[in-house]
Amino acid sequence: MADFHVYDFENEYVGKCYYTHKRGRLSSMFSYSLDYLSQSGIYNVDPAFQMIEGSQFVDSPIPRAFTDSAPDRWGRNLIYKRHLYEAQVNGVSAKELNDVDYLLGVSDLARQGSLRFKIDKGGAYVHESSEIPKLIALPKLLNSTNALEASGSHEAIKYLLDVGSASLGGARPKATVRDDNGLFLAKFPHIHDEWDVISWEYVALSIAKSAGIDVPDFELVEVDGSKVLLLRRFDRLSNASNAGEISRVGYMSAMTLLGAEDGQKADYADICLHMADVSVDFSRDLSELYRRIILSILINNTDDHLRNHGFLRDGSGWRLSPVFDINPNPERGEARATSIYGQTDRVVALEALRINCSDFKLNEGEAASILKEIREVVKSWRDIAKRAGIHQREIELMETAFAQ
Ligand SMILES: Nc1ncnc2c1ncn2[C@@H]1O[C@H](COP(=O)(O)OP(=O)(O)O)[C@@H](O)[C@H]1O
Ligand SMILES: [Mg+2]
Repeated sequence: MADFHVYDFENEYVGKCYYTHKRGRLSSMFSYSLDYLSQSGIYNVDPAFQMIEGSQFVDSPIPRAFTDSAPDRWGRNLIYKRHLYEAQVNGVSAKELNDVDYLLGVSDLARQGSLRFKIDKGGAYVHESSEIPKLIALPKLLNSTNALEASGSHEAIKYLLDVGSASLGGARPKATVRDDNGLFLAKFPHIHDEWDVISWEYVALSIAKSAGIDVPDFELVEVDGSKVLLLRRFDRLSNASNAGEISRVGYMSAMTLLGAEDGQKADYADICLHMADVSVDFSRDLSELYRRIILSILINNTDDHLRNHGFLRDGSGWRLSPVFDINPNPERGEARATSIYGQTDRVVALEALRINCSDFKLNEGEAASILKEIREVVKSWRDIAKRAGIHQREIELMETAFAQ
């Protein structure tokens, strides 16, 4: 049995995770440190844990809260390709990497949320990496993601891993960059994109902002003729009184909140039920979620799976993070990942939301005015798309996503 140590924020020791990897199966246990449990103001880092002494059984390969600090498709691919290359150079056979290898394989500086990991208790956080690149490195980062997709360039993979590109989840090429005040997530185009996905995500965020939904600061920039979306990282805060100092904010996905498997389908009613247990401002989160669901229906954002909903640590509990990864989908027939009272059809789902508005602490009048307000805002989609420089051909292609 092997282990690693779990910390929070700057240097707060949380506990130890034990794991074994046998016959291709990873299993783990977690135990809180007694010092951690004896402090005031601490929190349960995973809703599946109990705040008790001793080892706790984990019903997923690694605790889900740690999965939220681990890479997903994009980062895992980088780490695996690097591993294959190093094995080849060293003349050894490559091994099958497991969730712990991936968790410990990303840059600590860019790691999602506030949890951090060490292999040796007295040692350094894993893994140490070069500095987060400044915004000026965007062309190099973009070129590297392109070189990786085009030729599997080992140099590109090494550079991207060194600068923390693998740290955040999701499948799309991305990197973390910084300015003097904090960190940004940069999302890049992918060679197999069938449309200008990045610009359309910008359109969706612009609509969300006008619809009163909490969005991170965002900007669409052009880098070497490609569109790149910059999003201020909501899991980092810059210290107003000490310029340059950046602190971490705890993060948890809805997958972790619900104790769900990766890829498991869920319903917004389940998210509401679980939110009730942890939310520090439940009324705010309910009405915020209500707006997000309506927006998702009206722009046909169907990829609303549990990892595309997140929560930030706030005092003694959690609150919904700003919205992210919302994308209009022109495939009108595609079912959404998270159903709405069991419905995925947009007309029936809107009706289900109206009927059940009291679950969101809204009366029928309030629910109707939210729907009306967001419908009005969505109508401006073409203007926003044109201002974003999206080609007329693509605006026509996307018509079906916004048709009401
Ligand atoms: N503004 C942000 N600040 C911090 N973390 C973010 C932000 N936006 C997204 N994330 C995190 O990064 C992950 C990947 O981002 P996402 O936009 O979902 O990328 P992808 O399109 O590849 O799925 C998300 O699952 C979320 O945990
Ligand atoms: Mg995503």
